[in-house]
Amino acid sequence: MLLSIPDVLTSDQFAQAKKLLTKAEWVDGRVTAGHQSARAKDNQQIPEGHWVAKQLGEIILSSLGKNALFVSAALPAKVFPPLFNRYQGGQSFGTHVDNAVRQVPGTAHYIRTDLSATLFLAQPEEYEGGELVVEDTYGVHKVKLPAGHMILYPSSSLHHVNPVTKGARVASFFWIQSMVRDDGRRTILLDLDLAIQQLNKDIPEHRSVVQLTGVYHNLLRSWADV
Ligand code: NI
Repeated sequence: MLLSIPDVLTSDQFAQAKKLLTKAEWVDGRVTAGHQSARAKDNQQIPEGHWVAKQLGEIILSSLGKNALFVSAALPAKVFPPLFNRYQGGQSFGTHVDNAVRQVPGTAHYIRTDLSATLFLAQPEEYEGGELVVEDTYGVHKVKLPAGHMILYPSSSLHHVNPVTKGARVASFFWIQSMVRDDGRRTILLDLDLAIQQLNKDIPEHRSVVQLTGVYHNLLRSWADV
């Protein structure tokens, strides 16, 4: 599933992010790329472990933890510490697939990348081009969201970033290992969860809400790895 999650950051948090980003250091983005993607990748990143990346990463993770749509859609087991990239002067990232497994920097832990996330940290009018283009079985999807909004997509999909021909595209990107590794099952759980919430809102106390909530948890119990 390809899902846009609005307002991960509030406008205040975005203003704070902008301020922090002016104090960042930027290096060649190929430092975190695998062999295939290193050939396709042309952008800049804040070094992993830089204080700006850590501070801003914590703001993002704490907002995500409180974001009901993110939690319901991703069912996160582990989240990779957010990374930050910048594209300008024609930079782009050609078609690639993200590495299946990544080591969490500075630890002996690994995460399986079930979902990839891009959180936009520049307003669309600040740059030209720079769309994230995701290819899945339903076709080709071009994504360019307002600052503070995030796109979540299966890490198994081929994707690229179009050249940024004017201005600078700044974003945070990271991966999620889900409790439910299968994208189809996660989609069923999200649809069911949203339907239960809607029913509960439209007809509060409807007796089917409890029964359907039971079905949700029984499916999650069958499918979840924790
Ligand atoms: Ni990628």
